[in-house]
Amino acid sequence: MLQCHYMKPVFITSKIFLDSGDPNETRHALGTLGFLDGQTTNPSLVAKNPHIMELKNSGILTEQTIWEKYHDVANEIHNSIPNGSISAEVYADAMTSIDDMVTKGRELANWFPGIFVKLPTTHHGLAAAQVLVSEGINVNMTLCFSQEQAAAVHMATMGAKHGQVYVSPFIGRLDDIGFHGLDLIKNIVLMYQLWDSHVMVLSASIRSLEHLFGSIIAGSDIVTIPVGIVDDWVKNYGLNKDPRDFSFAISEKTPIVFRELIQQDWQLYDVHHQLTDKGIEKFASDWKALFAK
Ligand code: E4P
Repeated sequence: MLQCHYMKPVFITSKIFLDSGDPNETRHALGTLGFLDGQTTNPSLVAKNPHIMELKNSGILTEQTIWEKYHDVANEIHNSIPNGSISAEVYADAMTSIDDMVTKGRELANWFPGIFVKLPTTHHGLAAAQVLVSEGINVNMTLCFSQEQAAAVHMATMGAKHGQVYVSPFIGRLDDIGFHGLDLIKNIVLMYQLWDSHVMVLSASIRSLEHLFGSIIAGSDIVTIPVGIVDDWVKNYGLNKDPRDFSFAISEKTPIVFRELIQQDWQLYDVHHQLTDKGIEKFASDWKALFAK
C-alpha cells in the first residue's frame, strides 16, 4: 500500500493527472503528491516505457501483441488509481479511416469501465468520436491546437454527458513554435463557459510549473503533468502554496487572441492544424517502430 503524504489542497482547483506510459511513474507520482486524479498515455509515452523498450529490443513485439502490452500497462495504472480517469489512445495515421478508429475505440473502451479513448482532433477523429459518444464511450480529443478545433469538439459531441468528453490543447508544442500556448487554454475555457459546454478542458504538453499553475488559474478542468513536473512542484514549490502566488515571467511569445466563434455544424469549422498533422505522424512512427523488423 502506498503511503500518501499530502491531501489535495483546496486551491488546486483542477484535477491533476499524470502524463506517462509507465506504471512505475504512477506509483512514484502517487507517493510524491499523495493524490492523483487520473493519467493520460499516448503512443510515444508507451514506447518509452522501460519494459516495452526491453520487449522491443528483443524483437518479440508484433502489431497485435503490442496492444496486449498496452492493455497490461493501462491495467496496471488502473490498479494503482482505481478511481482515476485513464486515457488510452487509438492508432491513427493520415490513412486511418473513421471505421478503424471506431473499431479500435470500442476495443479500448472494453479494457475497463470509465476509460477515455483518445482520438486526434481531425475530421476523422471527430466523426469517430461522434459515434463512440453516442454509444456511451468516453473520449479525449487530443492534439488540439486551435479554438476552432475545440469548438468542433463541442459541436460534434453535443448530447454527451457532462464529463464524458475531454479536449486536450497542447501548450508546450504551441510554445515551441513561438506562441503563448497558455492563451489557448484561457480562450477555450472562456468559449466553453459562454457556451455552457459539456466538454472538459485538459491542459496537455505541460513543460513547466508556469504551464501547470497558469492552467489551474485559467480554470482548466484537468492538467496532465509528466513525472518531472510532479517532482519539481513538490520539491521547489510545495503543495501548500496557492498557484495564484506564483510569479509569472512576462511572455515574449506571440499572444493567441480570443475569437468569437459561432455554434454551427462541426464539419464547417476549419479543424486543420500543422501541429496536429505533425503530432499524428510522430505518434504513428513511434508506435510502428515498436514492431518494425
Ligand atoms: C497528453 O495527453 C499529451 O499526449 C502529452 O501531454 C503531450 O506532451 P508533449 O507535447 O510533451 O509530447
